[in-house]
Amino acid sequence: MRDKLERLKESALRAVDQAANPAELEELRVRLLGKKGELTQVLRELGTVPPAERPALGELANVIKTAVQQRLESRGETLQAQAMELRLHAEAVDVTLPGRRQPPGGVHPVTRAFQEINGIFLAMGFPVASGPEIESDWHNFEALNIPADHPAREMHDTFYLPPAADGSKRVLRTHTSPVQIRAMLAHKPPLRFLAPGRVYRCDSDITHSPMFHQVEGFMVDRDVHFGHLKGILELFLERFFERSLPVRFRPSYFPFTEPSAEVDMGCLFCGGKGCRVCKGSGWLEVLGCGMIHPNVLKSVHIDQEVWSGFAFGIGVERLAMLKYGIDDLRNFYDNDVRFLTRHAVMV
Ligand code: PHE
Repeated sequence: MRDKLERLKESALRAVDQAANPAELEELRVRLLGKKGELTQVLRELGTVPPAERPALGELANVIKTAVQQRLESRGETLQAQAMELRLHAEAVDVTLPGRRQPPGGVHPVTRAFQEINGIFLAMGFPVASGPEIESDWHNFEALNIPADHPAREMHDTFYLPPAADGSKRVLRTHTSPVQIRAMLAHKPPLRFLAPGRVYRCDSDITHSPMFHQVEGFMVDRDVHFGHLKGILELFLERFFERSLPVRFRPSYFPFTEPSAEVDMGCLFCGGKGCRVCKGSGWLEVLGCGMIHPNVLKSVHIDQEVWSGFAFGIGVERLAMLKYGIDDLRNFYDNDVRFLTRHAVMV
């Protein structure tokens, strides 16, 4: 019996020391000390030994029981500490690792030019107006004094669309000038607006893209004259290019303005001496403008005896190319990240 107890002690303590996790340990506790446990079993057998030996054996059994209990407890603590150690290790955050880089976004150079142009005219009191990109033939051409057989239509390389439900002809607007018509029909003079937006022409090379942007500006009031137009555009160019450059108004032709002019600015790149960008002329063509044609005022029922107005159209890509030194307009729409990060303003 004594031997049996000693052996039981040995094997029990070894088993406890080898328990690999709290669950195994609990299993052991039940197996050793539970109601049907091995030690409990041995204690029951005490009744079969001679009475004289019972007290000593009983005491030994209790000592063993306590030893096993203590060992179970200490092993339990060790296993818990180990588990905690493992968890701490597994869940540790290495604060010295470099962060994951989030590439910063930026403002596209066309958007940037747009914002700069709009800001300058907003400061001069021009609110923003807009119109649809799918435009009626009437707004895009007819009302702007460009009838169907007019040779000026040739200049526009129009994308024609299937007619609307009511049979009216539709186009992708070839310029922002139809917004003049919409604004003058919706508002009574005096009025002034700035109409920035996308326009479309069937054309593509290093200075043309089938979709590009224009900013239209126009004003109708009593006694508006060419001097106002000239002053406003000179001021605009000075602010946009952040320097004072010579500006000239060269007589030109647009069906919807009379007189019409093309505005040239002293070349930014050679200072007027003549270079590749200005093709040796010393001048850069930057926008078209003129006094609103009487026929246009008539088509929107504005009395030309009382009111007069001017209009201008700015090519946004053209100005952005000049200001930021970009030599191929198609760069704007290739979405080449190298180009975009070079010319985008980071936010
Ligand atoms: N709409 C003209 C174009 O696209 C530009 C322009 C606008 C000219 C307003 C004069 C007045 O070429």
